[in-house]
Amino acid sequence: MRGEVCLGLSTILALTSLLLLVFVHVGQINTSSVPHGVSFVKINVSNYGDALHHALIDDIDGLYTNNASAPLEAGAGLRQLYEFGLYSYCAYVNSSAGTCTNTTIQRGFRPYDALTSDMQSNYTDFTNAIFSGTTFANSNSMAHSSRAAYWMLLLGTICAAVALFTGVFKYSITFLISTTFAILGTIFILIGASIWTTLVKQAESVNSIMIGTTESPVFVGIEASSGPALDLTWAAFASLFVSILPYMISCCTFRG
Ligand SMILES: *[C@@H]1O[C@H](CO)[C@@H](O)[C@H](O)[C@H]1NC(C)=O
Ligand SMILES: *[C@@H]1O[C@H](CO)[C@@H](O)[C@H](O)[C@H]1NC(C)=O
Ligand SMILES: *[C@@H]1O[C@H](CO)[C@@H](O)[C@H](O)[C@H]1NC(C)=O
Ligand SMILES: *[C@@H]1O[C@H](CO)[C@@H](O)[C@H](O)[C@H]1NC(C)=O
Ligand SMILES: *[C@@H]1O[C@H](CO)[C@@H](O)[C@H](O)[C@H]1NC(C)=O
Repeated sequence: MRGEVCLGLSTILALTSLLLLVFVHVGQINTSSVPHGVSFVKINVSNYGDALHHALIDDIDGLYTNNASAPLEAGAGLRQLYEFGLYSYCAYVNSSAGTCTNTTIQRGFRPYDALTSDMQSNYTDFTNAIFSGTTFANSNSMAHSSRAAYWMLLLGTICAAVALFTGVFKYSITFLISTTFAILGTIFILIGASIWTTLVKQAESVNSIMIGTTESPVFVGIEASSGPALDLTWAAFASLFVSILPYMISCCTFRG
């Protein structure tokens, strides 16, 4: 009896973890409502134009586009909000309308490149002058870390799935496999979630950058914040971690 209860509990926890990770994987693959809602990092650039105007005095024409279907990475104009997922990112002109990049596992997290590649070249030049040398502008470093995090999360997802499916065969040996994969998956997800937590902090460093004269500096008007995918990843970690104990107990006590 105790074996059945433990098995049920561990199955529910591993399933929860797997489902949360599936949501993390679909984040930002297109603009429909569920993928739209799930991102690791959101960057709201709506006040950047005002900040540039304040710093440069010039009128800031053509920095943004209102065309939701304009292509990304083509100098077609900044959108208001950028949201980053594991395989792609999307840029939105308002709360619902936007466009996404193609999905690829090679993309990496390149927030600064995403913004500057949408600007016309004169604004890209101003922006490079402002952000030169900052953590936020170091897309190569962030892309490198995020690719490592991606493989960790992918391995974690596979381990959670293996733990879940081997757990249904009621033998001591399959419980041993489930326990092992639950432990491995927990470690992979922990590493992936930790790397993304660091990446969010690095992106958020943009929030404190100021421009303008020393007498009247203003915030640069680019605001980064963490999206729900980070919390979902930590929840998946917690769920899989807690499943280890009932898997272990099933493994030691179940007599099928
Ligand atoms: C972006 O930030 C501005 C100012 O803080 C806010 O008014 C606007 O609603 C935000 N846009 C989105 C899409 O969150
Ligand atoms: C940047 O270039 C665009 C298009 O050529 C122009 O409309 C805009 O006024 C320029 N902005 C500045 C600040 O030079
Ligand atoms: C918006 O962008 C798309 C793709 O570049 C283009 O086909 C369309 O004509 C643009 N719409 C407007 C109103 O400029
Ligand atoms: C967002 O923009 C699109 C295209 O410009 C428009 O069709 C839609 O009504 C807008 N939605 C909101 C909520 O403003
Ligand atoms: C995205 O995919 C479409 C269709 O496969 C392709 O035509 C397009 O060139 C791709 N865009 C980029 C930027 O790779």
